[in-house]
Amino acid sequence: MTKPAARYYDLLSANYDPVTSELGVWTTPEIMAQQIAPILKNGAKLLDIGIGTGQLIGFLRNIDQSIQVEGVEVSRKMSEICQLKYPDVKIHHGDILEIDFPDLGYFDMITICGALEFIPELNSLLQKCSRLLSESGYLVFTYEPVIIAHPIQNQEKSLTIPSSSDREQDIKDFFTYRYSPFQMYQELKLNGFDCQSDIEFIAYRKQETNIIYHLIVAKKSKLKITNEEKIQENS
Ligand SMILES: C[S@@+](CC[C@H](N)C(=O)[O-])C[C@H]1O[C@@H](n2cnc3c(N)ncnc32)[C@H](O)[C@@H]1O
Repeated sequence: MTKPAARYYDLLSANYDPVTSELGVWTTPEIMAQQIAPILKNGAKLLDIGIGTGQLIGFLRNIDQSIQVEGVEVSRKMSEICQLKYPDVKIHHGDILEIDFPDLGYFDMITICGALEFIPELNSLLQKCSRLLSESGYLVFTYEPVIIAHPIQNQEKSLTIPSSSDREQDIKDFFTYRYSPFQMYQELKLNGFDCQSDIEFIAYRKQETNIIYHLIVAKKSKLKITNEEKIQENS
């Protein structure tokens, strides 16, 4: 059974680049690249989760041509567009939570640009990122915060496509997941990441409403929190 995210982005794929490249529509990849620029090492091995059509890679390659990029993408059609644009990028097709990578500790940086909100298991995702990153590697990602008075972002989980939409029938089980900043810091800490910066910005407009993102730069710390510390944290 095809995943809801794959069905949705397969449908969107042909229009994704033309629509998002209009001025101011989708600036997240550019903002993420600006945050990454000071920490991007020459020849870094980078994994982009939810690579889509590869927009982030375009901006990162303008900063450093030598980065070696792999991507994960659940939508076949988005992957195909990305592969045409960036033939040297190795794309792992499938759901990040289900793909097995042979080499642990391989990547210097993992990026997740506009995709974490569609991945239902935050803890499993962060565990996986931690295993795939080298010692002191970076995890750079966006997420949707829960905002109590926001018309769309006021719940931890909601349908991505509103029930009034024409597309609702195709993708009725496609959800967006949100976290409070406190929850996110806790999850990062429990999975051995130090949060180095956290910025908030307007990512795009949906149903005439601004959608807010947080962009986190986190570093894998040498010390992973122990089970005893976990119990104290949670008590
Ligand atoms: C909003 S698009 C962002 C694409 C690209 N990162 C960008 O900034 O333009 C989200 C992408 O994440 C992919 N995606 C969603 N859930 C995924 C999962 N569990 N595993 C891999 N890719 C996923 C979608 O198919 C889609 O291409």
